[in-house]
Amino acid sequence: MSKTKVICFANNKGGSGKSTTCANVGYALSLMGKRVLLVDGDMQLNLSLSYFEEDRVLDMAKSEKNLYRAIQKQEDLEGYIIPTAYENVDLIPSSTLMSSIEYELFTKWQREFILRKCLERVKASGKYDFILLDSPPTLGGWVMNILCASDYVLIPVEASPWGLFGLANLFEFMDQVKQISPTLQTLGIAVTKADERKNYFKQTLETLGELENVHLFSQYIRVDSSIEWSQDRSQPVLAYKGASRSAKEYYALAKEILDYVSR
Ligand SMILES: Nc1ncnc2c1ncn2[C@@H]1O[C@H](COP(=O)(O)OP(=O)(O)OP(=O)(O)O)[C@@H](O)[C@H]1O
Ligand SMILES: [Mg+2]
Repeated sequence: MSKTKVICFANNKGGSGKSTTCANVGYALSLMGKRVLLVDGDMQLNLSLSYFEEDRVLDMAKSEKNLYRAIQKQEDLEGYIIPTAYENVDLIPSSTLMSSIEYELFTKWQREFILRKCLERVKASGKYDFILLDSPPTLGGWVMNILCASDYVLIPVEASPWGLFGLANLFEFMDQVKQISPTLQTLGIAVTKADERKNYFKQTLETLGELENVHLFSQYIRVDSSIEWSQDRSQPVLAYKGASRSAKEYYALAKEILDYVSR
């Protein structure tokens, strides 16, 4: 049986840190010797931009070799994998055409499971220890596909009033998904863009810590301009500036995630 673990990063709240966390946890896991495949499921192309420069990302988005095309053709994803500049990190890029993915899915049989089927062989091959899926800030048929293709869902939450708003909708949606994909587990919440000087941040942590049946990762990620600079350079922050605060925090969070899924 395959030991590859598929984790998606989901939250219907935009800007909660899904793409940043997916890109950086993925890279941190590779530094721990894990083989990682990143899959960009968002038309904003942010996960792809975390590893490749804009021109290359736009070329990939326009090509026949991106996630949108694979879903459209219902093809095995093996042929869509692109190596990154880093050992042990590969990526399947996205496309701006992802904006019409809901329409594509609508006409397909067993439409909730298209991504799971496209990923089946890559997962079973055991070539990767982790497959990390980045998702858009929506709750529709495509995010349902992403959740149905996953073993675990990790929820990045921004420590702000609106960051918490909408979590109830996400949990309700995940309950529905678990009815058709009962093996899906909620890995937990990771707090991002934290500002320890603000009382509101402390209150957010308390609120999240009190949620029943959802694990809260103890390592949170603080606001750090190195994140933005690393994204400007199309590099994970650990590669851009390994000594930065967020680099250390993402490494520690990835270690916590690794321990959690290895229990
Ligand atoms: N720790 C951090 N410090 C500073 N800026 C951050 C940090 N984490 C994320 N950001 C910035 O916040 C913004 C949103 O982050 P990100 O794109 O990862 O969120 P997202 O949930 O993927 O957004 P979307 O819902 O649009 O896909 C980005 O501009 C990113 O550069
Ligand atoms: Mg994103």
